[in-house]
Amino acid sequence: MSHNVIRSEPFTRLRAGYTLCELDELNNPGSKEFLFEGKEGEVVSIFAVRQGELVRAYVNRCPHAGARLNGAPDDFLSNDGSLILCSHHGAVFNLDSGVCTAGPCVNYGLQQVPVIVENGAIVTADSSVLNDV
Ligand code: FES
Repeated sequence: MSHNVIRSEPFTRLRAGYTLCELDELNNPGSKEFLFEGKEGEVVSIFAVRQGELVRAYVNRCPHAGARLNGAPDDFLSNDGSLILCSHHGAVFNLDSGVCTAGPCVNYGLQQVPVIVENGAIVTADSSVLNDV
């Protein structure tokens, strides 16, 4: 499946201090996908979500099946934008915590990628979590 997503240039490992995009590039509520090189050289998809002042990013990997959640580019949210939605099974995840609240992986969480909003941009924060992605 080809996804029309932002690919970091040059294709690189996820690292602290990387600007994912400008905050204005995300709808409110909205979501956007980014591709990086994983620790085994594989392609890793992460996505950022925004709802008002809340901005979070997660690894695009469902805790129950390891699959990517979205069926279409940048499409990670429920219709009302209040929840992260697995387009394959209808599982929903809390936007703030990434914890599944309904579906096959209830109480399991998405792996969070720490981000901050700095000078109007969404930037990965300093964390050892990034080394495991
Ligand atoms: S892949 Fe786990 S709920 Fe869809």
